Amino acid sequence: MPNSISVESLRKTYRGASELTIFADMTFVVNPGERLALIGESGAGKSTLLHLLGGLDTPSAGAIRFGETDITRLNPAQMADFRNRQIGFVWQVQSLLPEFTAIENVMMPLLVRGEDPASAQPKAQAMLAEVGLADRGHHRAGELSGGEQQRVVLARALVGQPKYLLADEPTGNLDECTATQILALLERLQSRFELTSVIVTHSPALAARCTRTLRLAKGGIFAIGTNPTNAGVVTMEAE
Ligand SMILES: Nc1ncnc2c1ncn2[C@@H]1O[C@H](COP(=O)(O)OP(=O)(O)OP(=O)(O)O)[C@@H](O)[C@H]1O
Ligand SMILES: [Mg+2]
Repeated sequence: MPNSISVESLRKTYRGASELTIFADMTFVVNPGERLALIGESGAGKSTLLHLLGGLDTPSAGAIRFGETDITRLNPAQMADFRNRQIGFVWQVQSLLPEFTAIENVMMPLLVRGEDPASAQPKAQAMLAEVGLADRGHHRAGELSGGEQQRVVLARALVGQPKYLLADEPTGNLDECTATQILALLERLQSRFELTSVIVTHSPALAARCTRTLRLAKGGIFAIGTNPTNAGVVTMEAE
């Protein structure tokens, strides 16, 4: 299905002194335009799953399809290109380059894909305007507030017009009021750009505003349910 993410029989096992299975035989679909919250206790494997979805880590078995493309079959160069063009990432604010200006940070994904600065700059400026920072482009990222930095992170994630958005605790370091603003912005941008997204969060407020939740627990157990405010939770267990 175009713009869906389909996870099929996914397994991740770390081999060390003892073998650690994070999840086994995990299957689920994120529908086009959906916002899926990835929740669960610390250490349950949320970041691990998000890294697998972003092609930053490789599964032990299984497939991950973005539309028709199984990213587990791409070579590193193809994966880097796919990530650059199709996936917007929102990590913690520390991922910005603090010595560079806001607009330079936002331009970065376009420059990486070979676009020249003269065409990248107006796109970055337009995206800064989308996130409410039209007049802050020439401030160094390190001099902006936490909430402003997270807006820059969002602008950088979306400047290349990806179809998918992956976020790891996008409101994690922010006070409640700023987190609410970032969440509202995220919702607005998601519908404006018709993004399919997966968001790792410890925030019940954020999870409640997602279409469904995928709850991970240690030992490879997972459950997918509708938004807690909706009736009819569907539960399936991996093992
Ligand atoms: N490279 C690795 N080698 C071995 N074990 C790892 C590795 N990376 C992660 N783990 C283990 O996998 C488990 C899941 O980690 P992960 O970071 O995905 O959890 P999380 O759900 O994101 O937790 P948190 O909410 O604290 O961010 C943990 O037990 C962790 O120690
Ligand atoms: Mg994590």
